[in-house]
Amino acid sequence: MRVVFLGAPGVGKGTQADRLAVQYQVAKISTGDLLREAVRNRTALGLAAKSYMDQGSLVPDSVVIGLVREKLADPSCVNGFILDGFPRTVPQAEALGTVLVAKGIALDRVVNFQVSREDVVRRLSGRRSCQKCQATFHVDFAPSKMDGVCDRCGEPLVQRSDDRREAIETRLKVYDEQTAPLVRYYDERRLLFPMDASAGVDAVFQHLSQELAQYRAI
Ligand code: AP5
Repeated sequence: MRVVFLGAPGVGKGTQADRLAVQYQVAKISTGDLLREAVRNRTALGLAAKSYMDQGSLVPDSVVIGLVREKLADPSCVNGFILDGFPRTVPQAEALGTVLVAKGIALDRVVNFQVSREDVVRRLSGRRSCQKCQATFHVDFAPSKMDGVCDRCGEPLVQRSDDRREAIETRLKVYDEQTAPLVRYYDERRLLFPMDASAGVDAVFQHLSQELAQYRAI
């Protein structure tokens, strides 16, 4: 299974990628998670990326393309991978195509998650994340058992700095201008699968699993 998860911020890409990666034993490559890890570890890459991320802008293509190229070479990707949040620009999509051709492989599907703008804002503004294990919750739709505490590792939950209202607005604008053109890009290549992601997490997962079952490795 080699798939890309496309869609506006907050549509539920990461939530579904986590579940699918476990169920199908494939690697999840989330550029957002990789960049946040670099920021936490104060690496040179993290320090360079932080200001873009806090504002809701995209990190330069050359940085994320390098990150993904490195991850795709990892043995954990041999059964397949889910690219969550990459590509996000046409140059990133072209670079991904070049990397895959060099490896002699191709994408199976690009899932385009779709949710109304109103729901996206509600999902983002109520999201709470664990800084340690990256687990994601929602104050209304997926609350943790104990308020403000991660169910998985017991660490405090925080609101992402880019889930503030001004940053959300910038992220949605950036999505419309720079990422939405990928819908057409992948549709022209007959890879696009439009996915209504407005239902609850379980219902969306069931629909997604049905569509992707044909691509499982075993
Ligand atoms: P990234 O982390 O990729 O952020 P994003 O694409 O904006 O996506 P999100 O993580 O915000 O949302 P999601 O769709 O994964 O939703 P989630 O499942 O969490 O990127 C962050 C930043 O990094 C970017 O702004 C940029 O600066 C940089 N970056 C990353 N990749 C880059 C790239 N390729 N190029 C350049 N820069 C890059 O769900 C959201 C909430 O909704 C959660 O609380 C969840 O519990 C809840 N929820 C999920 N599904 C449902 C449902 N079905 N019903 C109800 N609630 C739900």
